[in-house]
Amino acid sequence: MTTRRDFIKTTTAASLAASILPGFGFSKEGDQKVRLGFIGVGLRGQNHLEQALLRKDVEVVAICDVQQRMIDMSLGIVATAGKQKPQVINDGPNGYKKLLERNDIDAVVISTPWEWHTKMCLDAMNAKKYVGCEVITGMTIDECWQLVTTSEKTGMPLMMLENVCYRRDVMAVLNMVRQNIFGELVHLQGGYQHDLREVKFNDGLTPYGGGAEFGEKGFSEAQWRTQHSVDRNGDLYPTHGIGPIAMMTNINRGNRFTKLVSYSSKAKGLHNHIIKVGGENHPNAKIKFKLGDVVTTMIETSNQETILLQHDTNLPRPYSIGFRVQGTNGIWMDLNKSIYIEGQSKQAHRWEDAKEWLDKYDHPLWKKYGNDAAGAGHGGMDWFVLNAFIESVKRKTTPPQDVYDAVTWSAITPLSETSIKQNGATLEFPDFTNGKWQTRKNLFALDDTY
Ligand SMILES: NC(=O)c1ccc[n+]([C@@H]2O[C@H](COP(=O)([O-])OP(=O)(O)OC[C@H]3O[C@@H](n4cnc5c(N)ncnc54)[C@H](O)[C@@H]3O)[C@@H](O)[C@H]2O)c1
Repeated sequence: MTTRRDFIKTTTAASLAASILPGFGFSKEGDQKVRLGFIGVGLRGQNHLEQALLRKDVEVVAICDVQQRMIDMSLGIVATAGKQKPQVINDGPNGYKKLLERNDIDAVVISTPWEWHTKMCLDAMNAKKYVGCEVITGMTIDECWQLVTTSEKTGMPLMMLENVCYRRDVMAVLNMVRQNIFGELVHLQGGYQHDLREVKFNDGLTPYGGGAEFGEKGFSEAQWRTQHSVDRNGDLYPTHGIGPIAMMTNINRGNRFTKLVSYSSKAKGLHNHIIKVGGENHPNAKIKFKLGDVVTTMIETSNQETILLQHDTNLPRPYSIGFRVQGTNGIWMDLNKSIYIEGQSKQAHRWEDAKEWLDKYDHPLWKKYGNDAAGAGHGGMDWFVLNAFIESVKRKTTPPQDVYDAVTWSAITPLSETSIKQNGATLEFPDFTNGKWQTRKNLFALDDTY
């Protein structure tokens, strides 16, 4: 079995090998401060900003947004942190290009609506910036390819800031997978099962307004995310579920997604919400939402695992990603916080509380950085994802979640839309690595820093 020391040895070599990237802005000798620019400082961008301001190795040089309200909130965060005021760019939808013109910016964190991600990532890579982009990088297969070819051409890495890969229980389970506790993996499940009705109709007056308005009358995600539910039907948010699963199954590194099929249920939840809070005569009650309330996707891998993903955001339900990791020796599920390992669990055929196992296999990164991460968003995982990005920039290396992961996970959305449109057609999954998946090695969470 590979020991942790071996992991570190192999991956340090791999990181060095991966670090042969053309020069970029992070150039001052011995200067370990990463100079960051923020494009989009809405609610998510502000989370990243807050974390970045806490770090001694980061200087926030500029922020850019198109809404003064979000800029004012962000400047409040900077002032509370006692840091120097960054340059503020509020110059229309293309104002971010001014931020990219600054030669002293090493890296950008992009937290804008999905429809802006590809354009901003491409422009940032072409401007030789290291890119950390919030989830969903590439809304179409063509956009996904553009991101890959531009990253390859410019030598600039793109990391999608998928934070759930760093969830403490998920990383403990990844540790268990790597130590063969589940045996050979056979089937995995995950998804995004989160009642977003109040987020999609947030009026901005209360933290979660939960009215019947969206678009111009909405606030934060309600300004843009709800429209996707009007126009599109598919798994619109696959990355929180698939990211950790892809890392456990070494996707793009000896394994790959080969086929995908999606089905959608009827669409009732968002319409019913409008009627409930706005009444039958509310103008939005006439809207026909395309997004099915529960979208189910199956993916097959070249190693013959099956993966089931669910997108479920419009009905009353408590939050759950719904992870299930199942192999020839046993199974873990997050919903019932339970585990069963044949021959090792206390009773045959009986679920066991997973806590003891998760504590025992707590990932070394969490053991090391748990205190630093305490207080960061989403139970601390937000600290880890930003840390991985910043450390990659400092080392000028490929991030542990790279451009191929970003587009492979994001491509599930357009593929699922096509599959549903074609009445549940099974589609071939593109190989964004162009064959490199056969020899690439997994670097995720095998280093002693990220
Ligand atoms: N990983 C997570 O846990 C997590 C959580 C929340 C949101 N997100 C993701 O973060 C992203 C942003 O979501 P959010 O909740 O912050 O939404 P938001 O609406 O609060 O923020 C988006 C911001 O982008 C700004 N913007 C729009 N167009 C712009 C442009 N052309 N130039 C500059 N700024 C522009 C908006 O004014 C807004 O302030 C999305 O991709 C979302 O899916 C991820």
